[in-house]
Amino acid sequence: LPDAQVMIVSNREPYIHNRENGEIKLQIPASGLVSALEPVMRACRGVWIAHGGGSADRETVDKNSRLMVPPADPTYALRRVWLSEEEQDGYYYGLANEGLWPLCHIAFIRPTFREQDWAMYRAVNQRFADVVVEEATCENPIVLVQDYHFALLPRMIRKALPKATVVTFWHIPWPNAETFSICPWREEILDGLLGSSILGFHTQFHCNNFFDSVDRFIESRIDHENSLVSFGGRETLVRPYPISIEWPPRGLLNQPSVEQCRINVRERFGLAPDTRIAVGVERFDYTKGILDRMRAVDDLLTMAPQWRGKFVLIQVAAPTRSKLDAYAALEAEARNLADEINAKYARDNWSPILLVVRHHEPTEVFELFRAADACVVSSLHDGMNLVAKEFIAARDDERGVLILSSFAGAAYELPEALIVNPYDTHQMAKAYDRALTMSEEEQAGRMQIMVAQISERNVYRWAAQMLFDASWLRRREKIVP
Ligand code: G6P
Repeated sequence: LPDAQVMIVSNREPYIHNRENGEIKLQIPASGLVSALEPVMRACRGVWIAHGGGSADRETVDKNSRLMVPPADPTYALRRVWLSEEEQDGYYYGLANEGLWPLCHIAFIRPTFREQDWAMYRAVNQRFADVVVEEATCENPIVLVQDYHFALLPRMIRKALPKATVVTFWHIPWPNAETFSICPWREEILDGLLGSSILGFHTQFHCNNFFDSVDRFIESRIDHENSLVSFGGRETLVRPYPISIEWPPRGLLNQPSVEQCRINVRERFGLAPDTRIAVGVERFDYTKGILDRMRAVDDLLTMAPQWRGKFVLIQVAAPTRSKLDAYAALEAEARNLADEINAKYARDNWSPILLVVRHHEPTEVFELFRAADACVVSSLHDGMNLVAKEFIAARDDERGVLILSSFAGAAYELPEALIVNPYDTHQMAKAYDRALTMSEEEQAGRMQIMVAQISERNVYRWAAQMLFDASWLRRREKIVP
């Protein structure tokens, strides 16, 4: 696609400027979407359109609300879109995060649908469509639309720029048709998404769920053989594109040796040098199974008391969407549970759960991964989960064990992890024990297979596959308009 203009639209921006104690600080957000797309954008030098949510974001752009990024080595333009508090409440907190997020992740949190949130969601999608048109320098740009914040955007772009190639990627699961049917605006959402030329999910399973929803709720024709949906005189290619991480991983640059990381982290947390560590790193989100993995630590210490005083779970949880009740409740519950378990087992200077609630930069996360004996990803439901892949990338020493939920998309690609059902506390406790007693040969054997998988199926391949399909469609449209 040598001469095509590439644009990305996402809610979350890759670089956030915040004012802290009078100074402007740059933050890279904790978002699987951002960590996957940023390296792609650096390679293809287009425009990234996103909500400017940082407290110093307005001070760091030009008069067109643009700036060149990454700040250290500018290669592409970030175009910020300003949203009022009312717009954020309705579109982001409301419809996207209280409606679609729990709808698509089966984590037994009831979705909330409010008419006024829906109106705001539509309006904000339209605002982003207008910005896409403003930024377009030709009649057929390639627009990469990201995630559940923008279900209506593909159709809106299609109306304004009929020749655009709209490639939409849904970063979270797609539920079964029965669950999807509770959404009051299910037909509009399907119609919006089918404005895309290509619609991607992480797994074939989610594509199939999408086909079932289309089949049940709108008049269309599905060609399963070729993964195409025909609707309103146009076709959409619906395919799995399992997202991944960059390879070689930049987070490994300038990292001290594994030995040094082990020492640093144990010193920082005041742990004895031989303490065995499991880490969990995520946004403080109820889909991640943070409570469940803590309960499993409780179970482990009862089942295998020899680990008392010798093992800790370091749980890093980055505050997220804290304005919403479900998130505030989770944080309170997790703090209580950690206190309870710690009180039950604490001795001398040791307690089993270290809960660290703050944002961590990628280098800090990589250091933790390198210091750990195991990494636990116990999502109750997850589209892919890149933490699992980053942990493997961090371990160039081929040591460490990944404990991975069978309900994360990553489990399809990484069966060499210890696969667990996070709802089964005892099974998870046994997985901790197994991880802590696994021989170094077995750790290395599993790691080698997982490294081979991730290094080959990296994020460039993810993007290349989508762009390859886009280019095929563009060539075909020239012949068969
Ligand atoms: C998930 C979503 C992303 C989102 C990220 C962080 O990975 O799929 O779209 O950016 O969580 O959530 P936030 O609400 O902070 O953007």
